[in-house]
This record gives sequence, C-alpha cells and structure tokens, in this order.
Amino acid sequence: MLLDLANSKKILFFGGKGGVGKTTISSATAMARANAGGKVLLVSTDPAHNLGHLFDRPIGSQPVRIMAGLDALELDPGETIEKHLKEISSSLHKMMPPNLYGEVDKHVALSRDAPGMHEAALLERMADVIEEGYDDYDLIVFDTAPSGHTARLMVLPEMMSAWTEGLIKRREKADRFAEFVRELGQDSSMEDKTIGGATIKEQERESKIRQILLRRRHKFTHLRERIANEDETSFIIVLAAERLPVLETIELHDQLMQANVSISCLVVNKRAPSDSGDFMEERRIQEEVHLKTLSESLPESERHDIYLQPHDVVGIAAVQKLAKQLE
Ligand SMILES: Nc1ncnc2c1ncn2[C@@H]1O[C@H](COP(=O)(O)OP(=O)(O)OP(=O)(O)O)[C@@H](O)[C@H]1O
Ligand SMILES: [Mg+2]
Repeated sequence: MLLDLANSKKILFFGGKGGVGKTTISSATAMARANAGGKVLLVSTDPAHNLGHLFDRPIGSQPVRIMAGLDALELDPGETIEKHLKEISSSLHKMMPPNLYGEVDKHVALSRDAPGMHEAALLERMADVIEEGYDDYDLIVFDTAPSGHTARLMVLPEMMSAWTEGLIKRREKADRFAEFVRELGQDSSMEDKTIGGATIKEQERESKIRQILLRRRHKFTHLRERIANEDETSFIIVLAAERLPVLETIELHDQLMQANVSISCLVVNKRAPSDSGDFMEERRIQEEVHLKTLSESLPESERHDIYLQPHDVVGIAAVQKLAKQLE
C-alpha cells in the first residue's frame, strides 16, 4: 500500500513522534519506489539528520547516490542562512555609504539568530529541492523532524509569506531613509536622474533587497501551493502502537487537517508479531487497546502495520528487507 502511494504521488512527507521510525519507513518507501523503477530523492529536514546513520555513510547537503534510482540528501539550513545573509549584506553595502558598513554588518550578524530565520532557511531549501528535483525525480520523499516541528513547518510557508511581507514594508521605509540621506548630499553620485521615464530613485526603491524578499515570498507561496495540492503531495504519519505516540498522532492529524494538508495513511510501526510467544502476545493485546483509541478518533484514516524486526534497521540490505514488505 505504501508502494501504491509512492507510485501515485510526487511528494511524500513522513512525520510523527520521535523515535517511531520516520527515517526507517520513509527510506524503505523511497527504496520500494526505486526498486519499482522510479527515480527517487530522499531528503531529511531533521536538524539531527539520521539518514547518514541509517545508511551508515556520510550524506551531505548535495544529493548522493544510495543505490540505482535512489539519491539522498540532508538539508543544511545553516548553509542557507549564511548564503542569504551574505546576499543581503553585499546588497546593503551597495546602497549605503561606506561609513555605515560596520552598522550594516552588525545588524546582519544579529539577524542570524532572529526568530524564524532557521525555519525560513529550511523552508527555502525545501522549496529549492522540490523545484530543482521536480523534473529529474519521479518522487521526492521528506523525512521530517518529530511532530511539533513538522506541523509548524507545514503552516510556515503562510507565516513566512507574512514575515517577508513585513520585511518588504520595512525595506520600503528604509529605502525612503536612504533617499533622504542622499538628498542631504552625502552621496552626490546618487542624484535623481531620469532613465527611460523612471527616476533612478524609483529604480532603487525596487532595490535588490526587495527583490530578494519578493523572491522568497514567491518561493513560500509556491511551496504552500504544492503542499496543499493533494493530487501530488501527501503526508504519512508514522507511530508506534503505544499510548503517547497514539495521542500525538491524533493531535498531529488535527493540526495537519487545519493546515489543509492531505494525510494519506497512518503507519503503525514496530508491531508485535503474532506467534512469537506469550510475551509478544500480551504486547499485541496491549497494542490493540491503543489502536482502538486511534481508530475511534480517526475512523477515516487508512492504516498500515509494520512488524518489529528482530534486528536494528541499518544499511541498505536491512532497509531493502523492509522495503519488500511495502510492495
Ligand atoms: N520495524 C522496526 N523493527 C525494528 N526496529 C525498528 C523498526 N523501525 C525502526 N526501528 C529502529 O528504531 C529506531 C528509531 O527509528 P528511526 O530512526 O527510523 O525513527 P525516527 O522516527 O526517524 O526517529 P527520530 O524522531 O529520532 O528522527 C532505529 O534504531 C531503527 O533501527
Ligand atoms: Mg529520524
């Protein structure tokens, strides 16, 4: 069933409580699609990246080949933040007199830790990865960080659009300030000249900064449209048949519904196998109690169970074994 989903969608997100198996199941699903002949990109958005641990090899911010048909990468928001700040800083330098460079750099350095900066950078990278990989890959699979973080991420494109909107407005004010400074004659090279009907001042108002912000806003809006398009994007919640993961799944499901994100199924991982002795049988009975709560709260949701494996899932062969169970 997970393979059917992987065959019919373009973008899949895997989310859920910490430690339930998001990385394992998202990787197995990606591998199942690659086995079926698809080209798949597996992307970790979790700052505590664990794709590298799963495949027991370093995986960086650029795609690396895991096996035929499967590439993987771990998003690095830090790298994006630096790139973005550098772009802003050099644009500001071009607009301000050199004696203000020190102030500009101080301001830019402070905004490195501004609220939202990390998430904005992560979203921007997600948007880039989707756009850059859209034509090259049949499927892009996102392995996300534990629940709270992911739910926030899904509504963030909207919040970020509002955030960039605010910055654009502030930018307009700053542009007026720069204009005022110029009018005081501090920079005579910035005189008001007319080129093709528009004054230089007008052209400057459409400053580079504004373009950067507009470009980001456009990216966020576009990402939001992609996430909300249920024909191509779907969310899968992974959980264990235990009390807290079940409660957190119900909560995450609600949050995602409110964010207009389509949830295609719930994957109950690490289920106690039957015919494995009394202890496992008792576990199974306990699990059924929690799964009853789950199905009563989310009666419409499809469910897919995956059994607890006897060994840790590490390395291509182990993921491959799980992938075969998804076909
Ligand atoms: N079906 C399974 N059977 C046995 N072990 C499993 C199974 N699924 C996952 N595991 C093991 O459980 C541990 C956690 O799995 P995983 O890293 O995929 O979870 P996660 O939800 O991505 O965790 P985090 O929230 O920390 O990112 C790993 O050691 C993994 O090998
Ligand atoms: Mg993980």
